[in-house]
Amino acid sequence: MTTLGDVNVEISTPPTELAQRLSSTPRGARLARQLTSTALATWGYPHDSDLSHTAQLVVAELAANAVTHGRVPGRDFELRLALLPAKDTLRIEVSDARDDRALRFLDGGLEDENGRGLVIVQVLATLWGVSERDVGKTVWVELALSAGRRPCPRRPGPAG
Ligand SMILES: Nc1ncnc2c1ncn2[C@@H]1O[C@H](COP(=O)(O)OP(=O)(O)OP(=O)(O)O)[C@@H](O)[C@H]1O
Ligand SMILES: [Mg+2]
Repeated sequence: MTTLGDVNVEISTPPTELAQRLSSTPRGARLARQLTSTALATWGYPHDSDLSHTAQLVVAELAANAVTHGRVPGRDFELRLALLPAKDTLRIEVSDARDDRALRFLDGGLEDENGRGLVIVQVLATLWGVSERDVGKTVWVELALSAGRRPCPRRPGPAG
């Protein structure tokens, strides 16, 4: 059992899967990112590994979208992670209760403040898509595990 704030979660190992409902709030979105980092560390990918950084970024973008564009008042969103070594894949799923599946790429001029999340996701993903579910939809992303357990290279510090 892992505790994040006042949320208790079961992170299984093995099988390496996680499914957690979270409130459709900015706090819920933050927890989704923290849970991703914690689960991956439990599964052998430390907080500062390439895979963990990429997964945290993707989850942050999808969770932010779920709690803004996909939010239905009173309904949670759900984070699911599955580590699939045989497929060299980490599968990330973020489900929300809103039915519209047609996610839009915004034109995204350089000075635009919005419309970057899905562009970032598309660049990082091996595959991604949107699936229908009984209520709402699931945005799913697959990442290659081959980034491995390497820590990210440290940024050069100030000279001297
Ligand atoms: N979960 C979702 N439910 C419904 N619509 C969505 C969802 N995610 C994205 N969209 C639609 O797709 C558009 C593009 O999403 P994207 O994440 O790229 O940009 P953004 O959320 O508008 O801005 P940013 O992510 O840069 O803060 C959104 O403006 C929204 O119209
Ligand atoms: Mg977004």
